[in-house]
Amino acid sequence: MTRKLQQPYFETSMGSAYHGDAFDLLKQLPDNSINLIITSPPFALQRKKEYGNVGHDEYVDWFRQFIPDFYRVLTDDGSFVLDIGGTWIKGKPVRSLYHFRLLLAICETFHLAQDFYWYNPSKLPTPAEWVTVRRIRVKDAVNHVWWFSKSEFPKANNRNVLKPYSDSMKKLIKNGYTPKKRPSGHEISDKFQKDNQGAIPPNLLAFANTESNSYYQRRCRESGIKEHPARFPAQLPEFFINFLTTEDDVVLDPLAGSCVTGEVAEFLNRRWLCFDLVEEYLQGAQFRFEAREEDDKEEVERQSTFRMESLLDG
Ligand SMILES: C[S@@+](CC[C@H](N)C(=O)[O-])C[C@H]1O[C@@H](n2cnc3c(N)ncnc32)[C@H](O)[C@@H]1O
Repeated sequence: MTRKLQQPYFETSMGSAYHGDAFDLLKQLPDNSINLIITSPPFALQRKKEYGNVGHDEYVDWFRQFIPDFYRVLTDDGSFVLDIGGTWIKGKPVRSLYHFRLLLAICETFHLAQDFYWYNPSKLPTPAEWVTVRRIRVKDAVNHVWWFSKSEFPKANNRNVLKPYSDSMKKLIKNGYTPKKRPSGHEISDKFQKDNQGAIPPNLLAFANTESNSYYQRRCRESGIKEHPARFPAQLPEFFINFLTTEDDVVLDPLAGSCVTGEVAEFLNRRWLCFDLVEEYLQGAQFRFEAREEDDKEEVERQSTFRMESLLDG
């Protein structure tokens, strides 16, 4: 029988978004029901964000509240991916260690499957005092993206995230390679000549965050709804959803903001759940799904729904 849980703020055929505190909403999810948690929490930035980020001194204690439920709701081969930026100590040209402390705290519960770095070439050169005025630091343009797992062998397949080959690699596959030693002494065998349909990506992900006229933004402007001020680019969840899940798996973003994760999951045919504390962000997030729903409108009334209670049913 279906248990009565909180109603979604909005839903599509593949997923639901809920307005509320992730801490409470997570409690409503059954054990081992989520294949991938991917999220970008408020960072401990010096400049306070409108959605209320805690400072770097209290950060690890704030985040710790989520860790047991993240672990509980994930399937045994599930993954938890966290996008987090570093910050500076107020008034000094030195870095906070808050995110490294967080890494160690999370690893009391999870394995660190791999650390990734998201290079965002469009980041601004801040803090201006150190970077553009005194010129004693360079631009901080990399976020840490940590991939945690419950087991040492989480579900993952890098064949699903291959990059197009470089021109030189294409030439090498076509014309062949004479096996020889590299200057490093490393033997390169003729296996390198095999066409694997693309190159294995590195753990440095380069995506500019420069969205300026997307459907989401246009609809927010038209409706007088504030755009979410700290969205990640769709390529970030897209990479991990493709890498760590398969169709129909369940993806959760518990601190979802404008539901970029939900939109990408829906597009990739994964079921999804998104939570956020701020209603206005979800009002805007809804626009991400309306174009798709409009497209389908003539053919179908919505055929199915996917809510938290769907996980209890089966
Ligand atoms: C960095 S933003 C996420 C942005 C999102 N990745 C996107 O692309 O739109 C972090 C979000 O966490 C939300 N948040 C903070 N604490 C929360 C909590 N306890 N429960 C649910 N949401 C929370 C904030 O409202 C904010 O929208």
